[in-house]
Amino acid sequence: MLSLLLANASLMPPAAAEGARSTDHLLFFILGVGGVAYVAIMILMFFFVIKYRHRPGVPSKVDRNITHNTKLEVAWTLIPLGIMLVMFGWGYRNYMRMQTIPTDALEINVTGQKWSWEFKYPSGATGTKELAVPQGRAVVFNVTARDVMHSLFFPAFRAKVDAVPNRYNAFAITPTEVGEYDGFCTEYCGTGHSSMHVILKVLPPDQFAAWEQAHISRAATPEARGAERVARDCTSCHSVEAGKPGPIGPSLYGLVGREEKFTDGSTLKITDENLYDYVRESTLTPQKRIVAGYGPTMNSFQGILVKPGPNGKEDDSELRDIVAYLRSLRPKQ
Ligand code: CUA
Repeated sequence: MLSLLLANASLMPPAAAEGARSTDHLLFFILGVGGVAYVAIMILMFFFVIKYRHRPGVPSKVDRNITHNTKLEVAWTLIPLGIMLVMFGWGYRNYMRMQTIPTDALEINVTGQKWSWEFKYPSGATGTKELAVPQGRAVVFNVTARDVMHSLFFPAFRAKVDAVPNRYNAFAITPTEVGEYDGFCTEYCGTGHSSMHVILKVLPPDQFAAWEQAHISRAATPEARGAERVARDCTSCHSVEAGKPGPIGPSLYGLVGREEKFTDGSTLKITDENLYDYVRESTLTPQKRIVAGYGPTMNSFQGILVKPGPNGKEDDSELRDIVAYLRSLRPKQ
């Protein structure tokens, strides 16, 4: 048992959070108990099979009609029960450690989508392929999803939680070891599943502060914010260059002035006046009218670009940023 515990340093991924080693030790405890029980059962089974095998001329003892042995039955009920309760209590303690959210924890909002993660910090910093957490401070991950189910897994923290649309699942962790670790999506979510890999950096507090500063958007105008947003969410399908369609959807360059043809045969002349309505329809209800030559593949951004705002009004500021940017995508006069 002790040798197993010592060996786990190389058997398991690095442990970079409080409680991570305890999770390893619990795993080895369960494996150890299971292993000992397996060997004992096998030895006894072969022993009895040989000892009580049928031999010619020796009468069978089956007719002795043994019904039960109270002492033996109490023992084989209570001893495993005690061992199971140790496993349960140990696992429950580790689980509750991640479910108990300290009030001073750094909150990171995580959104999974096909096929990337978005990490948002209270400071305004964001990360997609990379995130950082400060060493020695409790961090809580609020995890949700935009489209289908994903699952966020940090092996070095021994922490994993499902990302489910319209739902927040949280866990808290206190990183202890500075380093670079892996983060994965562990719910098969389609062709880009494997590209949802992220780099998790545990940094000393001062370096973490610097990382955060470097990842805060400096975009000051709606146009610049819209450009950042389009680059993050749209350009994997659409292009923003003149005369060049995207890999999956039409080009977003020069929308104003374009005569759009749709698969239902209708057309729309896009102007400065109807641009907002058209972009709103195309992002919130993308299946309503589909540009001729393309498929109905786009996901709705309902609840993302337009969401409930203060005082019961809607907040469409992110959509307006995008419209401002798209308005600027046209030949200079
Ligand atoms: Cu997201 Cu797999």
